[in-house]
Amino acid sequence: AMRNELSALVNTVKDPETRKAFDTEMQSFFYLFTRYLSERARRQELDWDRIKSPSEDKIVPYAKLPSGPANNLNKLAVLKVNGGLGTSMGMTGAKSALEVKDDMTFLDLTVRQIEHLNTTHRVDVPLILMTSFNTHEDTLRIIKKYANQQLRITTFNQSRYPRIFKETLLPCPRTAEDDKKHWYPPGHGDLYNALLHSGVLDQLLAEGKEYLFVSNSDNLGAVVDDKILQHMIDSQAEFIMEVTDKTKADIKGGTLIDYEGSIRLLEVAQVPNEHVEDFKSVRKFKIFNTNNLWINLRALKRIMETEGMELDIIVNPKTTDDGQAVIQLETAAGDAIKHFNNAHGVNVPRSRFLPVKSCSDLLLIKSDIYSLEHGQLVINPQRMFETTPVIKLGDHFKKIAQFQKRFKKIPTIIELDHLTVTGDVYFGRNVTLRGTVIVVANEGQSIYIPDGCVLENRLLSGNLNL
Ligand code: UTP
Repeated sequence: AMRNELSALVNTVKDPETRKAFDTEMQSFFYLFTRYLSERARRQELDWDRIKSPSEDKIVPYAKLPSGPANNLNKLAVLKVNGGLGTSMGMTGAKSALEVKDDMTFLDLTVRQIEHLNTTHRVDVPLILMTSFNTHEDTLRIIKKYANQQLRITTFNQSRYPRIFKETLLPCPRTAEDDKKHWYPPGHGDLYNALLHSGVLDQLLAEGKEYLFVSNSDNLGAVVDDKILQHMIDSQAEFIMEVTDKTKADIKGGTLIDYEGSIRLLEVAQVPNEHVEDFKSVRKFKIFNTNNLWINLRALKRIMETEGMELDIIVNPKTTDDGQAVIQLETAAGDAIKHFNNAHGVNVPRSRFLPVKSCSDLLLIKSDIYSLEHGQLVINPQRMFETTPVIKLGDHFKKIAQFQKRFKKIPTIIELDHLTVTGDVYFGRNVTLRGTVIVVANEGQSIYIPDGCVLENRLLSGNLNL
């Protein structure tokens, strides 16, 4: 039935060239779908008892890497996966189009970082952006202003797959042009197919590029690091995953495991229910995937041409606006580690993983805790402590529009340790927060922190107007 429905979709496209490309895309989707059906039938699950921590030589501490000469940078290209929406922060466009610091977006900051790398080392590292039908326009709008500059920026679009109804397992869209809401970008694991089908992989190889540094577009800590690049060359690793020490707050990220002697990525979605608590614990799984990945391009091409880049399917359940249960079949880029030779992890400092997942993260990054150096976030030297403040903004601050409305200006937090805010709270201009500050407005109450207010080790609650 799925095959017929997909052919019907393909037949709704008139232009022969567009139809051909769309047909190829639907074939890739169909392949993923048939794998999903057969795995579901076999109820294939990981055998928990065979999961071991990776051996020590598979996780190399960053501190042990020798500092190398930066002379291989000309063989490097940088890729940002930029197909996702900032839906968890209530955004309808690309998260990377959000202004994070000094009126610059994630994309602007990435451009600054790579321009700086290129001018410092007199190299020509290109920036490649993987977009999706959801983010393509936002991305082009931002990079347009760099068209006449030195830095080369290439974009390519990832796949657009049909969502499927959970009950019937039939595709949601009725035509190839059907509404956006019936389609989805199938995760960052789609990167390998999209690189190949767009021709960008061959283009990079033809230019003499051998290594690709991949990271999430919202991770401002993912700057090019010559030590890791040199280590990749010295160890002849075809794939390196940057991992970092897990804290209690990092319960979501995937981890590296040893499964019957081979290195694998384990995502929470693959963990049997009864072991999810184990998975989240810091004791058994000490590190997690930052999604900063270093890939040997020739090895990638070889794998794509021979065995193919089969990746574990992550089933992402969603509910449509009209309440129907649908599923999305997705894959994760880091899962590719199992296909490469000498692949391993490098345990990097936390500063290489600085994503913005929530408005609490955004407040920290926008604040005076960080300043910018060539597009890179650096901790303000005036900060007396090594750690950054812990910030917990409640549901009233969940969406970006609310966040912007509730902070007239970002408070001064250089001396803050901990901030918790819940309920209907507003901050005026030039507010300073120090030590531990807790602001709780109960149901039906609101708190307005006036301009110029200084709060030091304070607990505010109730219906206050200071
Ligand atoms: P994810 O959506 O996987 O988010 O995007 P996450 O970091 O695991 O966690 P949440 O969703 O914020 O809770 C990670 C990166 O992958 C890109 C996104 O743009 C982001 O940079 N991505 C995601 C794609 O390029 N394509 C996709 O289909 C999904």
